Amino acid sequence: MHINKITVVGLGYVGLAQALLFNDDFNVVGYDTNPKVVASLNRGLLHIKDEDFARALTRKKLVATSDTSFAFQNTNIVIIATPTHFDEDKQTFDLSSIDVTLEKIIASNTNPIVIIKSTVNVGATKFYQAKYPQLKLFFVPEFLREGHALFDNYYPARIVVGYDKSEAKQRQIAIQIANLFRRYTKSIDDVPLLITGTEEAEAIKLFANSYLALRVSFFNEIDTYALTKDLAVEDIIAGISLDPRIGNHYNNPSFGYGGYCLPKDSKQLKAHFSLIPEELISATVSANSVRKTFIANYIARIVKNSGNNDYVVGIYRLTMKKDADNMRESSIIDVVTLLAEQNIKMIIYEPLISDVTYKGIMVLNNLATFKKQSDLIVTNRMHADLKDVAAKVFTRDVYSRD
Ligand SMILES: NC(=O)c1ccc[n+]([C@@H]2O[C@H](COP(=O)([O-])OP(=O)(O)OC[C@H]3O[C@@H](n4cnc5c(N)ncnc54)[C@H](O)[C@@H]3O)[C@@H](O)[C@H]2O)c1
Repeated sequence: MHINKITVVGLGYVGLAQALLFNDDFNVVGYDTNPKVVASLNRGLLHIKDEDFARALTRKKLVATSDTSFAFQNTNIVIIATPTHFDEDKQTFDLSSIDVTLEKIIASNTNPIVIIKSTVNVGATKFYQAKYPQLKLFFVPEFLREGHALFDNYYPARIVVGYDKSEAKQRQIAIQIANLFRRYTKSIDDVPLLITGTEEAEAIKLFANSYLALRVSFFNEIDTYALTKDLAVEDIIAGISLDPRIGNHYNNPSFGYGGYCLPKDSKQLKAHFSLIPEELISATVSANSVRKTFIANYIARIVKNSGNNDYVVGIYRLTMKKDADNMRESSIIDVVTLLAEQNIKMIIYEPLISDVTYKGIMVLNNLATFKKQSDLIVTNRMHADLKDVAAKVFTRDVYSRD
């Protein structure tokens, strides 16, 4: 496979990781329709918090552009990493950003290998391959965690490449793509490579994220039970997790699973099962709302039992994880909405918000004032900032991790 130029489309968590992974060795052009993202990267500034991104950008500047002809001209590989939100009305992913990208590649009159990294519904790559037979399309699922995007590409658990199985020649290219990604891995052990059909690769991504959502929900329901019965949840989870088949990882209770991917990917998988018997996938989707309602009601009861009409609940951070730099699909936001519906008085501490209110709730940017004014401090994840007020913190972060 001859590679001179690689074009990465969409410079968010996934695309920027891809661009910086290959930037040291190839002529990489990052293409994004958001001029702010392009301008900041061209000034050498990051719009995403990630230490490995910062180190890679120091080694070599990344060329970013919104100019379509410059991006796609004479390119050998296009990696698509644009958003795929779940459209609640249509009950499927919105793939419009992939549609427009493929149209731009066709219009550029180049014939690159196209790697779809965006998470898509099962069958999407096959559909596009039939629509654009002149393109060579592959689906390579991304499994990174935000904040560790490059790290997870250096140390992946597996590399999966999906190819059009009706074209035997494509298998060779799929293996070359897998080896290209493997070249950048730093693990001591060999990273497993999986060459599959595109639909199997798409299914791997959706089932993997739905399993993670299911697992989070399972440990959250243990926590719901323990809180209701006044039992020590850490003892119950420790006892369960010592079974090596279950394992002592990814078992920390929270207000609900969240972030950009788990909620939308499990909804997409549920939609795929519309005519297929199932219970668990639907339950994984609904369990998250049940959990957030339980948490909100639990907090509301603390407020009501206080007998204090001026009781103020302080919401510490609206982010999903401890050091997250975005608030996408964060479970605490739904808890806030549910508390607001019960007329609970709240204040919010969230440095990512510069406005004075959020959904009509006052946002304070002075942590000391926030702590003083809060009777109860609600946080999805415990933070060193809250150590001095630990006695009034409500969290389900039993293990201070994940
Ligand atoms: N964030 C994750 O942890 C993660 C992990 C695995 C897979 N994914 C999947 O990867 C895809 C991208 O996710 P993300 O978190 O990197 O998204 P993101 O929102 O962080 O970034 C997407 C970028 O694409 C740009 N963009 C939007 N439409 C475009 C278009 N038509 N042409 C060019 N650029 C365009 C946006 O301006 C933005 O900079 C999604 O399908 C997501 O499900 C995300």
